[in-house]
Amino acid sequence: MSLVRIVGALDPHVHLRGMEWAHKGDFATETAAALAGGYTAVLDMPNTPPPTTDSQGLERKLDDLGRNARCDYGVWLGAHPSGVRPEAELALLARGVCGIKLYCGHTTGGLTITASQMDRHVASWPGPGVLAAHAEGESVSVFLTALARHGKRGHLCHIDTARAVAEVAEHKSRGTKVTAGVCPHHLLFCDRDLPSLGPRGVMKPPLGTPSDREALWEGIRRGVIDVVESDHAPHTWDEKLGLPTPFGVPGLETTIPLLFTAVREGRITADRAVELVSVAPRRIFGLDPRPAGTYTLVDVGARRTINQESLYTSCRWTPFSGMEVWGVIRRVVIRRTVVFEDGEVLAPKGFGSNLYDNFC
Ligand code: NCD
Ligand code: ZN
Repeated sequence: MSLVRIVGALDPHVHLRGMEWAHKGDFATETAAALAGGYTAVLDMPNTPPPTTDSQGLERKLDDLGRNARCDYGVWLGAHPSGVRPEAELALLARGVCGIKLYCGHTTGGLTITASQMDRHVASWPGPGVLAAHAEGESVSVFLTALARHGKRGHLCHIDTARAVAEVAEHKSRGTKVTAGVCPHHLLFCDRDLPSLGPRGVMKPPLGTPSDREALWEGIRRGVIDVVESDHAPHTWDEKLGLPTPFGVPGLETTIPLLFTAVREGRITADRAVELVSVAPRRIFGLDPRPAGTYTLVDVGARRTINQESLYTSCRWTPFSGMEVWGVIRRVVIRRTVVFEDGEVLAPKGFGSNLYDNFC
């Protein structure tokens, strides 16, 4: 065995579903998927029914997560499409979340905001959490400009084009406080794969060109891209076969093995892989210092074929089905308790803790 130890692997971008979308996946099944994928913590996105855009929505989600999560978690607040919340409410909400998510384009859920609203949301966010944006095309520069103008710290989610990589690089060199994430599907697929992927290739942002894909790898190597995030977004297979095809693909159980496959292929070093899924996300999302007794052992010398039948995610499909990967998750430990070992999830429902309880 050739074991790599990752301390506190954190996926900062997941859609666990649950509540009124429990048919797609719930907090128990999708946090089991997180453990099976080698993650000890996840940050859940707000585009759920009910949406996590006010205190009621936040309380409902935290209550459900508290009873069902098998791994540690944090929750994203969503920028309300009807405008910025009153200052006192926003200040209170900000203490219970990892940050605020701005949806600057059409996607799953109804949280899309306009470019002019974006600037107001950026200006009024009190922190300490991060402002994160789903931005494509023109909205990338609108978000980056707003961060620079207001001196705020932000994270550009699932960066997908060569142009976006160049824009982030430019802003970083000027001192804009921005970090960027990339998803495995954008690193491994491109628009030429759409015919063979079918509905498995439908997600936001969409798959780019082969040169976009190369620019993303280059962005990782040059440090323009800081984090690999799965954007785990399960929809049932029946929903994926329907029209219009819903956007999103699951990813929690495949991201870490796919990254160590890239290590094996010489695209990145093992240290860089660990940085992308643990060191950098923990630093960016306020979770330093390193948690005690919380780690994952990955056997990077073991090979397996991704088999959708054996996934823990309740949707039971993946765009990476059939791929040969290097990297088998042997053990996951949270606060000195073994929560996953050799294919079996051991953590009961409710084992997970909220990492942002009274975040200040
Ligand atoms: C996400 C989902 O289904 O919740 N879908 C996706 O394609 N990424 C929403 C999102 O993050 O855009
Ligand atoms: Zn997402």
